[in-house]
Amino acid sequence: MTQQDTLAPVLRFLHSATPQAWIDCARRPENLPLLLTDHMICELKAAQTALLLIRKYVADKRGGEALLAWLSPYEAFTFRNGPEPDIAALNKRIGKSVMPHTDDPWGQALIERMVLLIKEELHHFLQVREVMIARNIPYVKITASRYARGLLREVRTYEPAALVDKLICGAYIEARSCERFAALAPYLDEPLEKFYLSLLRSEARHYQDYLLLARQVSSEVIEPRIRAIGEAEARLILAPDSEFRFHSGIPA
Ligand SMILES: [Fe+2]
Ligand SMILES: [Fe+2]
Repeated sequence: MTQQDTLAPVLRFLHSATPQAWIDCARRPENLPLLLTDHMICELKAAQTALLLIRKYVADKRGGEALLAWLSPYEAFTFRNGPEPDIAALNKRIGKSVMPHTDDPWGQALIERMVLLIKEELHHFLQVREVMIARNIPYVKITASRYARGLLREVRTYEPAALVDKLICGAYIEARSCERFAALAPYLDEPLEKFYLSLLRSEARHYQDYLLLARQVSSEVIEPRIRAIGEAEARLILAPDSEFRFHSGIPA
């Protein structure tokens, strides 16, 4: 599968491409520490989002707690000045024993796809962290962008509509990440370009996993919701934004 094959459905799904003004800001060497820091946090937040879905909709208490323990070293480092997480932490926490189980086919599909997604996002987290360490970029806490918050405003407040909308939001966040990695890659130095291109395939798969789960859980046609959330996503990407982040709008 070529890079073009991976990207084509992502670009069709999104309602707008990343504006050149964002790319011009992102490629500036002085913005690289901020970009990598936010990217690293986004990987953790992607894992947290997936974990939350499993805990809220499927897992029993024990399974949910095991999954929480899996993420806690990353959260401790990122939000509470904890020690540096490493690959050993990632591998130690994965295993059939931590995985919740359900007899509901949809719930089991959610568990399986989201656990794989969490594993991949945590791996990406460590990869970004390694890039930062190699480039002597210290981790400094930053504020979150308006993007995820803005998207989640579109989520309806009753079930199962809320779940369907959350899954569609997840699809857009993953698709946008994939599109941005590809848009930015040619402007970066060679090792970073290679790294960003290496992430495309998994992020493209994550967006499709979310959409598949949304279609499976909904008894209605979800196209109107996909369109509405897609339009909201594009508005966030195309509106002026005072804060530069991985998913920010047009730099003001
Ligand atoms: Fe990722
Ligand atoms: Fe992802």
